[in-house]
Amino acid sequence: MVSRKEWDNLADDFEREVCDITRETKGKEIARLVLGLRPSPRKSVLVDLGCGIGTFVERYGKLFRATFAVEHAPRIIARAKKRLAERTDIVWLTSNIPPAATRIGPLADLTVCMNVITMPNERIRAQMWDGIARVTRRRGHALIVVPSIESDRMVERIAYGTSRAQAKADAPDGLVERGGSRQKHFARRELYELLEQHGFRATKLMRVSYPWQKEGLRKPRDAGTRRPWDWLVLAQRV
Ligand SMILES: C[S@@+](CC[C@H](N)C(=O)[O-])C[C@H]1O[C@@H](n2cnc3c(N)ncnc32)[C@H](O)[C@@H]1O
Repeated sequence: MVSRKEWDNLADDFEREVCDITRETKGKEIARLVLGLRPSPRKSVLVDLGCGIGTFVERYGKLFRATFAVEHAPRIIARAKKRLAERTDIVWLTSNIPPAATRIGPLADLTVCMNVITMPNERIRAQMWDGIARVTRRRGHALIVVPSIESDRMVERIAYGTSRAQAKADAPDGLVERGGSRQKHFARRELYELLEQHGFRATKLMRVSYPWQKEGLRKPRDAGTRRPWDWLVLAQRV
């Protein structure tokens, strides 16, 4: 599991080492989903749980009246604050997600949590889902990005020639080795179930692709138009 300290050590190399999906994807899926919610710059509240260096907040925060940006790694959030120093609409919280959720309360019209729920421990992941639920007001939305196990299997097949059956048999629990630690990857169906368990109804689930380089690979010859992807889910709090 990547500890807070290990995350912090990535602060200077964040852009190179981390898949910041808002920046990496060429598609317009994220923009479309956010704009489709028609947030009010006079009323709406955004909460970004695990905000990294603040790319999402930088791009979309202005559509909201106020933003809470939560990040547990002090050097990473310091970079975000420095980049967005002129923004007075952002409350920065250097904190683990569960206590931050208690502090913020159910205020969010939109809660964003992008590539944060990757820890191998199921109990800790449940605390993250619960944190998303606790900050999202009733009928508010959550925009969640998580690694896809289906994408990982595609990469295994295309880049390493692993058979379809073998790729499926590997990592049945979705735990995949990435840069020396195991990271949870989610199956599409599993996401629907988890969201329901935590009081959400998934309204849109789609792929959001990123460059092969973020898998540490050059684009394989047989890849065609295929690219690795994360799952991007829009869900409504019921
Ligand atoms: C892969 S990065 C993604 C950052 C950002 N959401 C983005 O899309 O670029 C994951 C971030 O979540 C933070 N993080 C991981 N676990 C956390 C936790 N329990 N509480 C708060 N932040 C956490 C890490 O420090 C890191 O900055």
